[in-house]
Amino acid sequence: MRVYPAFFRAVFSGMDPEKAHRIGFDMIKLSAATPAGPLLRRLMRPSPDLRVRALGMDFPSPFGLAAGFDKEGSGIVALTNMGFGHVEVGTVTGRAQPGNPKPRLFRLVEDRAVINRMGFNNDGAATVAPRVAAARTRLERTYGRNRPVIGINIGKTKAVDLADAVDDYLISTRELAPHADYLVVNVSSPNTPGLRLLQNIESLRPLLSAVRAAADESAGRHVPLLVKIAPDLTDDDVDDVARLALDLGLDGVIATNTTITREGLVTDPQQVMACGVGGLSGAPLRRRSLEVLKRLRAGLGEDGPVIISVGGVESARDVQERLAAGATLVQGYTAFLYQGPFWAARINRRLARLLA
Ligand code: FNR
Repeated sequence: MRVYPAFFRAVFSGMDPEKAHRIGFDMIKLSAATPAGPLLRRLMRPSPDLRVRALGMDFPSPFGLAAGFDKEGSGIVALTNMGFGHVEVGTVTGRAQPGNPKPRLFRLVEDRAVINRMGFNNDGAATVAPRVAAARTRLERTYGRNRPVIGINIGKTKAVDLADAVDDYLISTRELAPHADYLVVNVSSPNTPGLRLLQNIESLRPLLSAVRAAADESAGRHVPLLVKIAPDLTDDDVDDVARLALDLGLDGVIATNTTITREGLVTDPQQVMACGVGGLSGAPLRRRSLEVLKRLRAGLGEDGPVIISVGGVESARDVQERLAAGATLVQGYTAFLYQGPFWAARINRRLARLLA
């Protein structure tokens, strides 16, 4: 029996979504700090059959948690206890910043979607770095070699001019790359003015080249580097990104971020309008995210760089579909808000059966 949907309706649905997120996340973190932590870890641990080799590492499951849930790196171990094979921390920026004024997170329950304009609220690279380092040490101690993987997603500080974006990304890179299993350059969030302009190939090439050099130098090893793109790119833009990724020898592409479109929604248009600007995520993103994945895989080649597919993934069947369409790994976020703490473990259990 699924308890969470009733709990969601009774407790969270009437609550401000950001507050509900904070309370839910605090409960997950609390569970890790009590004797329930090791028990949950044992119960939720993905089947060994789900192990995936990617980016030079063994991921315990192809399914992980997308960026934006743990922006501060404050709950990495707790989230891996819930069954995620990897957790992507961030987006982290060069400087700490408060993000946009509240309210900035809105539920579209009928669409199993949310709209957010959080605006990269986070503690800044220098504060997040030691948290990630500590989590990594704990995971290594607990799991040994087959531990959950920690990605770090970096973005531009809002107060920094677009013209100085590279230097700002390099601040985060130098702080965070030494602690990251993989690093993501986020140029696709709709909530930092001008950020998505960096997806132009002419801007992206120097940015990715500089980040890669700084990441490897500061970490003293090769740090797998990926770029995260928007679903709102045209197909031609997606092809350009694929070509650039091959050209630069990038390790992978994450597709996709949230969309600024409002297509295919069943929620009352007035309610959607009232949310205002922001990125839409969840079930309505599924179709375009899958399209972008297929386009990218065609451009990158079957044995080409890693693709992490994200956008509208809700079930083990969705994960299976992405893997079959050329994804190496799959992530989700919005369905976690609706389906609750046992979502990843449920996906892992069913995925193991589907893939058997
Ligand atoms: C996000 N997402 C996101 N992505 C990113 O690269 N950096 C970020 O800081 C955030 N922040 C964020 C906040 C909130 C509230 C949401 C819902 C989403 C995007 C996320 O990682 C993912 O790409 C999309 O949400 C699509 O996946 P889902 O939610 O449809 O599974």
